[in-house]
Amino acid sequence: MSTTTAVPDNRIVELMVEVPAGQVVRYDLAALASALNIADPGRIAVETDGGRHALVTVYPSNPLAVMPPPSPADMLMDRHGRIVMGRYHNGRPARRRLFDPRTGSAQRALVFGTTGAGKSRTVQYLLACEKRNRVVSLFADLKGGQSAPEAAGQVDWRATSQEEAILMLRAAVAVAKERQLRYSRLGRTAFLIGDPDPLLSVRIDEANRLLERGAPYREEATFLIKELGRTGRSVGVGVELDAQASHLEELGGSDTLRAMLKEGEVTLLRWSSSMMRQLVADGLLPAGAQLAPIPKSIQPRILRSQFAEDAGDDDDFCDTQGMAYLLSSPHPTSLMRHFRIGSIAPTPGLDPEILALYGDGDPAQLEQTSWEAAGEAYASRHDPDAMAALCQAVAEEQEKKAAAAPAATGGSGRKSAARLEDRVLAAMEAAEDAMTADEVLAAVLADGGKEVKRGSVCNTLGLLADRGDVDRLERGLYAPA
Ligand SMILES: Nc1ncnc2c1ncn2[C@@H]1O[C@H](COP(=O)(O)OP(=O)(O)OP(=O)(O)O)[C@@H](O)[C@H]1O
Ligand SMILES: [Mg+2]
Repeated sequence: MSTTTAVPDNRIVELMVEVPAGQVVRYDLAALASALNIADPGRIAVETDGGRHALVTVYPSNPLAVMPPPSPADMLMDRHGRIVMGRYHNGRPARRRLFDPRTGSAQRALVFGTTGAGKSRTVQYLLACEKRNRVVSLFADLKGGQSAPEAAGQVDWRATSQEEAILMLRAAVAVAKERQLRYSRLGRTAFLIGDPDPLLSVRIDEANRLLERGAPYREEATFLIKELGRTGRSVGVGVELDAQASHLEELGGSDTLRAMLKEGEVTLLRWSSSMMRQLVADGLLPAGAQLAPIPKSIQPRILRSQFAEDAGDDDDFCDTQGMAYLLSSPHPTSLMRHFRIGSIAPTPGLDPEILALYGDGDPAQLEQTSWEAAGEAYASRHDPDAMAALCQAVAEEQEKKAAAAPAATGGSGRKSAARLEDRVLAAMEAAEDAMTADEVLAAVLADGGKEVKRGSVCNTLGLLADRGDVDRLERGLYAPA
């Protein structure tokens, strides 16, 4: 669109636009706002079909600026196993599936978002919904329990360390295997909620801490999550990862997650541009599909004289936490926002609004038939001393493995070269944008490891580029492939 169009102020305007055959719709939200003479891009929503068409909706004001809290009805599964997460920009309910009754499938889910995007609030909402629907929740909060403190006592098992998360994953895999055997003896092929077992859901907030390169339990956690993804679906054991990641490599390697992403429920909160590129490259989004980026805040850009009386006031401020795309929903390119969960301003202790979401009563427990399979760790989940001892054993086992591992990798020269590669990749992945060799050098020097020379970093970048792990972009910039 090239003409400057005036849009009436108090009405909703819908435009169906089409590009010539042979092209796909691409757009730049800022440019579009400028063409329509609109100061606040939050008033505009664009949905594309991944092809020649786009639907542009212009609202009198940002339709997602203020969200209501959820109602009890929103939190109950409908007959399709879905709950309401929030609203799309057009006001319609945005739903997510907790279970698929048609196929008897538990769900695999991923929630991505950069820091502060609203992952942990989404987690608390899902946990509260699970509690109300009598789903058994196993929940690992890898920020030591700080991400969702209200979940304590509201879920069947709340793990707060990486070791405990490993114990939880091992238990869940064992339960899935036990259920599989039991159901095959019964001649059961599909899972029915409550007959005889409840739906079980395993959720890890800050999953990146468990799965990122260099994390102590990366290998085992990746294996266990893959196992759960494979066996859990048909025996009522679902799994969800909530992560801050700019690259699938940070989550245990892309193979693990590609399958989960393809078939799972994927929520994209505010994300980094490199994550986005990768989702498209991996075919997780239709080739032509474009999602308007969610900025940190949507603030109308109105230039005022530097000397105007009220210059500097920004009362029209609208944060974007909770805004997301539900990629596996029927409307993957339609911007939605999650309900308001808890108070916006920090509360001194536990947030009473969040506690109220969980409702009264005890959370559902794992069926007794599976307690033996779930093992000692499950039995010790409410006993801090016993749990600490089990976690200690996991940590010692890991230290032994780590001490044994380097001997197998050969000469010490190769070891330090390998380490620089990892440091370079880690530095590049931590940055959201492409970097010059000097920027990579600075980041590597700042990581607390051994001192390195610029030449070694350049050589390593060259090596990684030849191997296809890193892309050489124009103007001497590098980005993770
Ligand atoms: N749905 C929501 N309703 C109300 N406030 C929200 C919502 N989502 C996010 N917020 C606000 O944004 C802040 C950050 O949200 P949250 O802790 O869920 O983000 P996060 O993605 O888990 O961040 P981190 O990476 O730091 O763990 C919250 O403290 C809250 O103020
Ligand atoms: Mg969080």
